[in-house]
Amino acid sequence: MIDLSVFIKDLKFNNPFLNASGVWCTTYDEIEDILKSEAGGVVFKTMTLEKRTGNPEPRLHVEKDFSINSMGLPNFGVDYYCQIVSKLKKYKKPLIASIAGFKENEFYLLAEKIKKSDFDALEVNLSCPNLEGKGIFAYDIKTSFKILKNIRKIFKKKLGAKLPPYFERETIKKISEKIIEVKLDFVSLINSYPLGSKIDIKDEKLVIKPNQGIGGLGGKIIKPISIAQVLLFNQYFKNEIDIIGVGGINDAEDVYEYILAGAKLISIGTSLLKGVKIFKKIKIELEKIIKEKKIKNLNEKIGLIKI
Ligand SMILES: Cc1cc2nc3c(=O)[nH]c(=O)nc-3n(C[C@H](O)[C@H](O)[C@H](O)COP(=O)(O)O)c2cc1C
Repeated sequence: MIDLSVFIKDLKFNNPFLNASGVWCTTYDEIEDILKSEAGGVVFKTMTLEKRTGNPEPRLHVEKDFSINSMGLPNFGVDYYCQIVSKLKKYKKPLIASIAGFKENEFYLLAEKIKKSDFDALEVNLSCPNLEGKGIFAYDIKTSFKILKNIRKIFKKKLGAKLPPYFERETIKKISEKIIEVKLDFVSLINSYPLGSKIDIKDEKLVIKPNQGIGGLGGKIIKPISIAQVLLFNQYFKNEIDIIGVGGINDAEDVYEYILAGAKLISIGTSLLKGVKIFKKIKIELEKIIKEKKIKNLNEKIGLIKI
């Protein structure tokens, strides 16, 4: 038996594999499927104060190399998730909440509710690209860090933020310094690449309906974008903040690449749309890589590639 366990501070994961928020984690049954699978923990669907039905259909398009989604955060509302989380404790795997507010104050109300519940950790989603008429919070650095700072004051369990891709090294440096200052425990890099579109040339139509047919990109084609974010953030974090790598992960070679870049855990989105069996496949594949490379402790490989 190869030990794949990893820790965010004192929170133990039996292996580094998680779902990415939004995929297979909206209903009780879906969340339970993940907990019953080989995954090391679960990230819940991003929850809002009130229940939401989300954007009009079609709102998700999947191809071999990418997905485009403009779901609009359909979820059952924070109270539902705070209620079901207690029943899921029995699986003894970390349960991570994901929250998003539409106004600053909503983030605090959400964080208060998560604090009083049985969740082990909280991921603040500052990067949803699909809310009509709303910008991405994380690109407003001042407001984002005000929110994170205030949540950190009240939330003593593990706290992280889900970020979008940034486009300049200087911005990443500045944000990394602020994340260290605020004392987050982890960041998830990255949410969907914000602006993606596809036209079906047979029907001569955009493949998704909301937001003028433009949605968030996921899948294989965003992996190089995300790997660069992980490399840069890891360089500036100087081992102070843990990274969850997200974007285009489909097999253990992808996982290993993220680990070398600096990710401690990884999250699977688009490739999980086909079902939770991917966790077992990736675990078997990663154990094979570990044996072939004669790796004694996978933790030694985290962030091996320095830039
Ligand atoms: C259908 C769908 C729904 C998503 N919903 C959320 C969400 O609620 N919260 C969130 O933080 N990210 C959400 N995401 C983004 C994923 O968590 C992930 O960051 C992104 O898809 C990149 O990973 P991937 O390449 O493995 O898909 C969603 C992605 C998809 C495809």
